[in-house]
This record gives sequence, C-alpha cells and structure tokens, in this order.
Amino acid sequence: MCGIIGILGEKDVAPLLVEGLKRLEYRGYDSAGIATLSNGHIQRCRAKGKLANLEDKLGAQPLSGTTGIGHTRWATHGAPTEDNAHPHATEKVAVVHNGIIENYAQLKDELEKLQCRFETDTDTEVIAHLVTHYMTQGMKPQEAANAALDRLEGAFSLALIFAGEHDLLIGARQGTPLAVGYGEGEMYLASDSYALAPLTRKICFLEDGDRVKVTRDGAQIYTNDNTPVERDIRITAQSGAATGKGAYKHFMLKEIHEQPAVIGDTLNSFINPATGTIHMPDDALAALEKAPRLTMIACGTAFYACMVAKYWFEQIARLPVEIDVASEFRYREAPLPEGGVALFVSQSGETLDTLEALRYCKREGQTIMSVVNTIESTIERESDIVLHTLAGPEIGVASTKAFTTQLTTLACLALALSVRTGKVDEQQAAEMAEALRHVPAQTAAVLGDHESPVQDIARELFEAKDMLYFGRGLLYPVAMEGALKLKEISYIHAEGYAAGEMKHGPIALIDEHVPVVVIAPGNDPLFEKAASNVQETVARGGEVLLISDEVGTAQLKDHIKWHITLGDVHPFVMPILYTLPVQLLAYYIAVTKGTDVDQPRNLAKSVTVE
Ligand code: AGP
Repeated sequence: MCGIIGILGEKDVAPLLVEGLKRLEYRGYDSAGIATLSNGHIQRCRAKGKLANLEDKLGAQPLSGTTGIGHTRWATHGAPTEDNAHPHATEKVAVVHNGIIENYAQLKDELEKLQCRFETDTDTEVIAHLVTHYMTQGMKPQEAANAALDRLEGAFSLALIFAGEHDLLIGARQGTPLAVGYGEGEMYLASDSYALAPLTRKICFLEDGDRVKVTRDGAQIYTNDNTPVERDIRITAQSGAATGKGAYKHFMLKEIHEQPAVIGDTLNSFINPATGTIHMPDDALAALEKAPRLTMIACGTAFYACMVAKYWFEQIARLPVEIDVASEFRYREAPLPEGGVALFVSQSGETLDTLEALRYCKREGQTIMSVVNTIESTIERESDIVLHTLAGPEIGVASTKAFTTQLTTLACLALALSVRTGKVDEQQAAEMAEALRHVPAQTAAVLGDHESPVQDIARELFEAKDMLYFGRGLLYPVAMEGALKLKEISYIHAEGYAAGEMKHGPIALIDEHVPVVVIAPGNDPLFEKAASNVQETVARGGEVLLISDEVGTAQLKDHIKWHITLGDVHPFVMPILYTLPVQLLAYYIAVTKGTDVDQPRNLAKSVTVE
C-alpha cells in the first residue's frame, strides 16, 4: 500500500523525505515522489520504479525547502507511471494520498466543468483541484482542505502543503493510518511510526475522521465536524535503527533465518521461566473460558494461522471455532453468540478488511482479541486484548517469521486455555509445553539441514507452470501457506488443497508437468491417508515432493521423486516446523527464476485498501 510522509523541518527536507520513504518501501510500491516549498513555490520530483530512480533524479536536480511531503505509490487508479506518481499538485497545493477516493469520477467531472485541467488518471489529483477550487473561492488553506475533505468518499489518509505557507501541513485520516510526529522545532506526518522513528519517537495516531493542522509549534487535531479533540501522544517503542538485510541477499531470507530467535522471543514472553509452563494474560483466558464460540478472522497467510489454530482450539481446548477471511466475513452479517470472542490475526495490524471485520464484531458485542506484530497498530488500538508476536519488523512482502510466531502465540493460547478449563491433564500439558519449548532449536536444525537440499530441488522445479500442495489435518493449512508463498514470490500458479479433496477434482490436473508437494509426517495420525494420495498421484504420472519424517519417507521412498525429511516432531507443533521447508522452497524457486523476492509485482505488505 502507499506510504505517506510530511515534514516541517529546520533545514532542507528532501533528504529526510527520501529516508522516510525508504522506511515505507516495505509496504509495496511502484513509483515515488516528493514535493517541497522553495521560495514559497511548490516544486516536485517524481520517478517510476524504485526509490533509487527518485534519488538519481534528485541528485541531478536537488529540491530545496524546509517544508515538504513524500509518497511511495502502490497503483490503484492509473498505471504506475511518473505522471501518475504522487505528489499531485496545482500552483496552490500539493497532496499525497493513501487509499481510494470512491467518488473521484463524479468530482472530476464536476471540476472539469469548472475548467480544471487534469493531467493524470489518478483519483488523487481530484483532491488537489478540489482544494484549489475552494481557495479560488476565497477560502484559506485549512478551510479549503476541510471543504474538500467533506466531499470525499472512501478510505484515505492524506497530507497537503500549500504554496506560500512554509509553516503549514494539513493531514487527514479516514480509514487508512496516519500518525503525527513531534520533533524538536520540527513536526511530521507519516503512515506509521516506523517511518518516523529515526526523526522522533513522540507519536500521536490519528483516529478515523480526524483532521490535523500541523505547524512547527505543534498540531491541532479536529474531528470531521471541526470539533477540536485531543489524542494520546505516546513514546513509540519502534526502533529508529535501520533494518538492513545484513549478509542476506533478501529480507525474506534474513527473516526466514530469524525464526529460531523470534519464535524463542515470542515463546519466552508466554513461558514462566521458573516452571516452564505456558502463561497467557488472564483477561484473555477468562474471556475464552466463558465464550460459547471463538470467531477467528484474518487475511492471507494470517488466515492460514487461524486455520491451524482452529484445530488446536477444537482438539485440545474443545472450544468451537469459526474462521473466515476478513473480506468475506465483514459483509456476510454473521450472527455472533452472546459472550463470544472474536480474534483477529494480523502482522501489520492495518489490513483494512481485517480492521472492518473487527469493527463489525465489536458492534455485535464480541470481546475483541488480536494477535499483531506491529506495535501501536490500528487493530491493536481497537482491540480489548492484544497478544504480540515478537517477530520484529517484517520487511519482505511474503510473510514468514510473522506466520510462525503467530502460530507460536496461538499454540500457547490454546494450550493455556485447555489447562485452565481442565481439558488436558497435567501430563499432556507438560508434554505439549515441552514440545513448544523445543521449537526454536528444531527450527534452527531444519533450516540448517535443509536449505542446501531445497536449493537443489528448486533448480528442478523452477520452470513448472503449475504446482499442487496437499496436506491433511494440521498440515492442510501448511499446504495452503506453501502454495501462497510460491505463487506470491515466483508467480508460478500453485494451489493448496486438503489432500482428501484430491479425488473431488484436483486429481484431474495431475500429470508429469504438474509437480505435487505432499506434506505428510509419518507420525501424523493421518499419514496413511496421505500416503494413499501419494500413490494415486504417482499412478497418474505425477511427480511427488514428499515433506515428511524418516518414517514417512522410508515408507514412500520408492514412489516419490524428491523428499525433504525432517527429524521427529511432536504432532502439536508440526504446523510450525513443517512450514519451514515450504518457505525455503518458495524462496529458492523464486530466486532461481529471478523474480523480485522482497517486493513481488502487484503486491503490498500492508493492504490498507479494500
Ligand atoms: C502473505 O505472505 C502475504 N503478504 C499476505 O497474504 C498477508 O499475509 C495478508 O495481506 C495479511 O496481512 P496482515 O497479516 O498484515 O494482516
């Protein structure tokens, strides 16, 4: 999604704007630009593609000025060209925008009738002309901005600067996040606290409908009916340290290898070091203990974490669970039980569909819990109870360490609940807690043992046009996640399926051109069923990559073409450990293909539009 930054500085702001945009790159983008006020006049520099292109242009033609705005664009309306890159401007105003103006066509038509001349295909340019129109009607900048904002429909956050107004920055939030940063003699606006962390840790998150007038003396926040309002100013825990790739070629590979450490950090935040038992916040367990049902909602990879957790909560805590993807759930008006709990899983904490589903559940009287990785995110701030994954910033668009720490957190929650409600006895609980405690070391072992063999397998698979992933039970969501990882970074069409569904359709796809990945540990209770699926696949000329353990590989070795064989893994934690090979497989296939692994085409890290 787009990233926004605005600065009222003490010195030329162009370099600071670009540095801020670099910390917003992870959101996904296809063009970028900045605008500053130089001698009171708006000047812009924009470029298609990566930020390096913008830096090259600025190197040739630097922008001066201590007031400015910047933007990384993830195209919604209009192709990713330089002309469509933000900021969009007239002589009087420049604007950067994240989101969608749903009524832009009607407004554009109205403005064209007023002789406004549009230069782009974007919805955003409408904002610049609408504000300018009101200013030509005699309104002052803030009035004109408010009048324009009153006309906009949709989800958006934006920042505006005005010709001749070097001490003014106007911001607004309606659906997508925007934060105010408080510096020493400087003030800032940005999409998140991560972008501002090198400049300031004193942050205020705007709420939906908020508008803000920023000067170097501070910020005045108003609701959309112009009522002044106070919002919390907090010291963010975000680190200002640059998040680099270190010795790794891609952020994704770095984050795959961070998993032993961050799974350990997440576990240690829930494990009592003295007793080795799992302890979760009492309010979370109390809410779940009374709940007749748990509803779990998320998108993408985070939804697959909900799929795994459904098995855990139902099998060991005996709690009925309903799951759904947020984009469907938020519109289907699901009846929800009195005293129910709704749990939302999100790495970014800003996914709009997930956030709107949360708001539906809140309106329906559910206790709202969330598992988030990004501190101070909107989903966190709108939840009653929050559990943090301690994965650290995840920069690669493809979710890896966020997923396995989500699973770790949900496993701890399900286990702690089952102990509290007496659904498992002490010995069973101790066995599962022990299995969890071994996960960080086992994760390191799996990555160490299998990275090289997976690279070899990837070199045999990277030219595939289609791939299938099959799994059963707790490994079915892992099959879904493996397929998603592959398709989103290698662009190979891949489908994940419950292995039992194979004969209900997908078996028609199988031939020697469609590699099939079967995730089936030998000591999994459903292994024999999955073994039959391997036989059925091979009988039709399919070539199978089996991801299993010694038992499973030994039993199927005469039928499979490739295998990745893990050590013994307790069934409770299989989803966490069996995710690692499918992460590595997707990564090395994509690297062999030469795609942009960290910022795959068309994708964004945080989907803050519908
Ligand atoms: C997963 O690799 C993708 N990046 C995507 O499916 C992601 O999981 C989804 O957009 C949800 O994002 P969130 O966890 O930040 O809400």
